[in-house]
Amino acid sequence: MNNKLYNTLGIVGNPLKQSLSPSLHNYWLKQNCLKYNYRKFQINDINDLGMSLKEFQIKGFNVTIPFKKEIIQYLDKLDKTSSVLQAVNTVKNNDGILEGYNTDVSGFITGLKYFRKLNIKKPALIIGAGGASEAIIYSLISRGFKEIFVMNRTRKRAEALEEKYKEVSIKNWMKMEAINTSGLIVNTSSLGMIGYPNLLLSLKDVEKDTKVYDIVYNPLKTSLILEAEKNNLEYVTGLAMFIGQAQNSFQIWFNIVPKVNSLLIRKLKSEIITT
Ligand code: ATR
Repeated sequence: MNNKLYNTLGIVGNPLKQSLSPSLHNYWLKQNCLKYNYRKFQINDINDLGMSLKEFQIKGFNVTIPFKKEIIQYLDKLDKTSSVLQAVNTVKNNDGILEGYNTDVSGFITGLKYFRKLNIKKPALIIGAGGASEAIIYSLISRGFKEIFVMNRTRKRAEALEEKYKEVSIKNWMKMEAINTSGLIVNTSSLGMIGYPNLLLSLKDVEKDTKVYDIVYNPLKTSLILEAEKNNLEYVTGLAMFIGQAQNSFQIWFNIVPKVNSLLIRKLKSEIITT
């Protein structure tokens, strides 16, 4: 890496091959006439980068798998959300002070706004208890949900979430009763993502106003989204959360809310690599 990266933004993670973040942010940088370049920084060990972060004088960066927690030791400040979650996906270099944020939460909430009517009185079902799951539980609690079911292949991982959040209760993996009584079903697991098995979940017996949200966007129409479509259920794909979190990162760096138009959506859809 160069010593100084004044006009640089980027994403730190591994793997980054399929990341759409450079494409999205470079589009917005150009649209807003900002002379910055957004790059990929694929690293094996966060310690290789951590100590030099301030020297680079980079404007800011996103952090993704597997470094969202490990980055924290190198930051000077955390906002409330990233501090509760102990996970950072956005860093801003504020005159040498490295500030950590978590825009996965606001990004997920942006996606929720696409549903015409969301009934927060019904339980929400979260599938998966990995890194993404907690940000979504936190989002749903802040959106007013009082009952959140978590279903994970490995029960142990879900237990930590049940202990931390009073709204959360664990349901057995693929328990039909939990699926059929939830008003919102969210997939936060890797199932359905390219390279993983499909999430095979029948939605034929859910109530007609059940909403479905898959945070996987690669492919856009996952097995869960296809099942929602087949049963005429309202759904939101992972592209909504992806764009939402990026919009909020951009706002943190530049104080500008970048615009989303149909051209941009088409561009991103065409860049989703599914092979
Ligand atoms: P992320 O940060 O993207 O959430 P992660 O922390 O590795 O990634 O979590 C992946 C999630 O997908 C977990 O809930 C994982 O379940 P386990 O805790 O049982 O591993 C889930 N997942 C991945 N592959 C799966 C599979 N083949 N069947 C069921 N769940 C799977």
